[in-house]
Amino acid sequence: METERLRLRRFTADDVGLLVDLDSDPEVMRFLTGQPTPRKEIENVVLPEILKMYGEHPELGTFAAEQKVDGAFIGWFGLQPAATPKTVDVGYRLKRTAWGKGYATEGTRALIDKAFGELGMERVVADTMAVNHRSRAVMRRSGLRFARLYHEHFDDPLPGTEFGEVEYAVDRRTWEAGRRA
Ligand SMILES: CC(C)(COP(=O)(O)OP(=O)(O)OC[C@H]1O[C@@H](n2cnc3c(N)ncnc32)[C@H](O)[C@@H]1OP(=O)(O)O)[C@@H](O)C(=O)NCCC(=O)NCCS
Repeated sequence: METERLRLRRFTADDVGLLVDLDSDPEVMRFLTGQPTPRKEIENVVLPEILKMYGEHPELGTFAAEQKVDGAFIGWFGLQPAATPKTVDVGYRLKRTAWGKGYATEGTRALIDKAFGELGMERVVADTMAVNHRSRAVMRRSGLRFARLYHEHFDDPLPGTEFGEVEYAVDRRTWEAGRRA
């Protein structure tokens, strides 16, 4: 799958290093786990789960994003099945060097278009910590709208957990109206 500046492809078993590098930046992980992901966890849990998902949901999953201009890996975008039928969850994680260029919005818009177009979904949702303002801005720029604030229990909460989690969403009708505008 391609956007104006990005190519999205499936991860392979050879991509451990790319994911280790991405998750090694504490700033990237700040609103996720708050710390780098150990290589062993990428090897034994993270990457195997990504690869397994391609088998279970061939149209969905987590996709490596590369700049078309030079093939450089910049992070990933994901479409995951949600609890409600005909609904998918969109997500993204980019290397800090790729922030501030509009890549997250570009990739997210493309996945939302795929979800409603090719995949025939009725709703796309996205979740993040309420204090993750950069992520919330990507959601807004991609056409998702604030849906709800909720609180989850964590045994080892990250700073900012007390402000809760937010869900953004867009349904098919709103997406179609946006395309006609
Ligand atoms: C969330 C995340 C993807 C946001 O990245 P981002 O770079 O802020 O978002 P975008 O790619 O949409 O870029 C938007 C910025 O690029 C700028 N920009 C520059 N060139 C641009 C272009 N050609 N087109 C659009 N925007 C452009 C915009 O003005 C905007 O700048 P601003 O932040 O100063 O307002 C990134 O911070 C990240 O990976 N964080 C860690 C992982 C994470 O928290 N994921 C979400 C968890 S749910």
